[in-house]
Amino acid sequence: MITVKDTRKVKKIIGALKKKSKIIGFVPTMGALHPGHLSLVREAKKRCDFVVVSIFINPLQFGPKEDFSLYPRDFKSDEKLLKSEGVDLIFYPDRRNIYKKGFSTFIEEKHLSRFLCGQFRPGHFKGVCTVLVKLFNIVNPDMAYFGSKDYQQAQIVKKIVDDLDFSLKVKVLPTIRERSGLAMSSRNAYLSEKEKEGAGCLYRALLMAKKMVEAGESAPSKIIAAMRGIILSEKHSKVDYAKIVDAQTLEDVSCVKGKVLVALAVYVKKVRLIDNIILRGKKTNARCLHSGCRRQKGGK
Ligand code: PAJ
Repeated sequence: MITVKDTRKVKKIIGALKKKSKIIGFVPTMGALHPGHLSLVREAKKRCDFVVVSIFINPLQFGPKEDFSLYPRDFKSDEKLLKSEGVDLIFYPDRRNIYKKGFSTFIEEKHLSRFLCGQFRPGHFKGVCTVLVKLFNIVNPDMAYFGSKDYQQAQIVKKIVDDLDFSLKVKVLPTIRERSGLAMSSRNAYLSEKEKEGAGCLYRALLMAKKMVEAGESAPSKIIAAMRGIILSEKHSKVDYAKIVDAQTLEDVSCVKGKVLVALAVYVKKVRLIDNIILRGKKTNARCLHSGCRRQKGGK
């Protein structure tokens, strides 16, 4: 395994491998690696000849009041973990390797980015898209791996790859969780063991949504109210958003039917955590009877 900071050197190494028709797998990260990241690395190792992991805490995707300067950093531990997974190359650029002085080009996906986290973190996805387009250009992967914990991010990545004609396949893998159900996240490092236990309320709320939908509930407002109840019963927690949206368009649904995304952003103390679950509401041609369902008015 080698660690490279210089973009030209990465391009040179990858260029030589591509000439030999090697399949390049890529896992972009911001480091402070945990088993969620490693699940992506393992899948890449299974499917690709050469696996690149980038570690770059991208300043562009943090708002002015967010945790950029505090974001956990532990390169030595990350390096050790990636070595034991058999990663071939760590791309570990400095800020200046990515954003040269005078950098003034940005990539913005304008549709999916309006919803969910996009509404609460202005500029976040513009930062994510800009860095990923740069990383894709530098690493030139055949396959890139993302986690569905950041479902909206993964959908936006698929969209930019399609819109901008990148020749790479985007693979989205399941969320890895702690035993309590808490989705693994680098930001969990900010929480004490007790707070982490409390943060399990996100998953408990998502499971409540699942149970209600399985029992035939189709009114988003009722499901969201039940989820809020679970989260707010936990000390120090505050809901940033709790939404049920169409899993493809990310727009609010007025009735849970077909494939929906139940998405949460919750502050536990000052730590913002996100989680989600995909559910399938019962498909029915019958009129929905809950109040608030738009289908009622048109009768369709
Ligand atoms: P980061 O938060 O480090 O996450 C890197 C990748 O790991 C993302 O695709 C994320 O969805 C995935 N991941 C995180 N927690 C996971 C979990 N519990 N289970 C499965 N996968 C998980 O997401 C970013 O970095 C950045 O926005 C980045 C894409 C690197 C751009 O800067």
